[in-house]
Amino acid sequence: MISTLILVAALAGSAYSGSCPTPPPVPAGFDITKFGGRWYEVVRTSGFTENGLRCVTADFILRSDGDFNTTNSAIRKNGEAAIEHGTANRVKGGPADELKMVSSTIPLPIAFYIVDTDYDTYAAAYTCIGVPPLFTYETAWVFSRKNTLDEATTKRLTDLLTSKYGIYESSLEVTNQTDCTYTPFP
Ligand SMILES: *[C@@H]1O[C@H](CO)[C@@H](O)[C@H](O)[C@H]1NC(C)=O
Ligand SMILES: *[C@@H]1O[C@H](CO)[C@@H](O)[C@H](O)[C@H]1NC(C)=O
Repeated sequence: MISTLILVAALAGSAYSGSCPTPPPVPAGFDITKFGGRWYEVVRTSGFTENGLRCVTADFILRSDGDFNTTNSAIRKNGEAAIEHGTANRVKGGPADELKMVSSTIPLPIAFYIVDTDYDTYAAAYTCIGVPPLFTYETAWVFSRKNTLDEATTKRLTDLLTSKYGIYESSLEVTNQTDCTYTPFP
């Protein structure tokens, strides 16, 4: 899901703005290690490659050095499994809610910002790539620890992404998480 898919979603122009949003404030006591584990994608910005992907999961596997290995899994439209491995590393001296994502397919580091999470139930995140002010493309997600998320929380997080982080409401779509057989968390 994350990197290859972001780039192509970006080329599809899912959310264009010309500048990247101000990174989210880091809440007091924020602990990135608690972001580790499995997340189910419940809402995403629509885009070319993620188009039709069902049963999308993002696994953040905490390493002993405090950074993460990542595994993104999904089912393509044609029923084939899609899997992608990568890393998500903290940024030395950077905000605690920023991770630099690199994948096996696109070895370009992409800044991934966690805009809100309670670690145990929900998370919202975005990326922004490009050359501001010439062009930028943003991709955003709402994640859940289960394959569903209650409507009120989902709405609060999509409102946050659209009001504060420049995501177009029309670009958001619900990820199909029905009839899924998930791979175990690595
Ligand atoms: C992270 O990935 C590296 C390279 O594939 C692997 O050697 C290492 O065991 C992984 N660590 C964890 C905690 O999964
Ligand atoms: C979700 O995927 C399942 C399995 O392919 C399908 O039966 C269902 O119609 C899809 N739901 C939506 C809303 O597209």
